Amino acid sequence: MKVEIEKAAALLEEGNVVAIPTETVYGLAANAFDEDAVRKIFEIKGRPLFNPLIVHIKSIDFLEHLVNNIPPKALQLAQHFWPGSLTLILPKKEIVPNIITAEKDTVAVRVPNHPVTLALLDILDFPLAAPSANPFGTISPTEAKHVIDYFKDTIPMVLDGGICQNGIESTIVGFEFDEPVLYRLGSITVEEIEKIVGRLSIKNKKEVAPDAPGMLERHYAPKTKTFLETDVNAFIQKHPDKKIGVLLFNQRTENHDLIHQEILSENGNYKEAALNLYAAMHRLDKLGLDLIVAERFPDIDLGKSINDRLERATKN
Ligand code: TXA
Ligand code: MG
Repeated sequence: MKVEIEKAAALLEEGNVVAIPTETVYGLAANAFDEDAVRKIFEIKGRPLFNPLIVHIKSIDFLEHLVNNIPPKALQLAQHFWPGSLTLILPKKEIVPNIITAEKDTVAVRVPNHPVTLALLDILDFPLAAPSANPFGTISPTEAKHVIDYFKDTIPMVLDGGICQNGIESTIVGFEFDEPVLYRLGSITVEEIEKIVGRLSIKNKKEVAPDAPGMLERHYAPKTKTFLETDVNAFIQKHPDKKIGVLLFNQRTENHDLIHQEILSENGNYKEAALNLYAAMHRLDKLGLDLIVAERFPDIDLGKSINDRLERATKN
């Protein structure tokens, strides 16, 4: 592994884009202080320049180099959750290039919790800007092979760190008058954050969060037309002549011979379901089906974050 990490470091130092593992999803990384390198990320991903990137740093100590005015609750959250799947939006210092922040005066920062990427950050003398390593709008990658399928012809290296253990993106929290505001549901639950800093206001919908641009569009979407339903069996019965793939929380449907089923967690464990979500979507999307139908999760715990991703995957 050491050899791969050193190779990735050398490529990044030369201004290349390299895919890196994190505990949430794979990222498409470049030197955050090199504007030309960061511009390549937008080009490779097909991402509009108005959609800002997350900066990955090696430890909480590096935060003060990038941001000003850290509210007390931001510090509490960073101390509690980093390294981990929480991204904080804070007022940026000049050193952060405007291309990363889409000209905004804030920057998104987190310390990823993956041994390979932490080792990589440790030998680099710059932080890594990285969005998820998928073409804009498509299903996020949770294994190296997902990234290779998307980008094998356009990036020089995918640093393979195995399967991402959380499986959905980080939770994003910003601050308004020093109070925390949730901009994106993710791997860390609302309940966990509220335990540390008390009541959290939630602005993760388009109407209330024009400021979190990545949250606007159809996103995380399979190529196959996808539906989100409470009663999956009723949906299947209404479409008798279709080839349907089914994404279920913990129980098979009785129509199991007719259709392709993905059970996200036989034990009904939300964390396991989140870990399996995107890989199951990638598999179903490759089967040449007419439709995919996903089961709506209970609206608690990580079920909230999973429903959020499924809703965005089913938007037209
Ligand atoms: O888990 C993750 O967060 C992964 C891994 C690779 O770290 N990254 C990821 O990046 O999901 P991306 O680019 O797919 O999503 C970043 C989100 C976007 O919705 C973007 O709009 C938001 O972060 N964002 C970045 N900077 C922001 C800012 N200054 N203000 C508001 N939203 C911001
Ligand atoms: Mg993304």
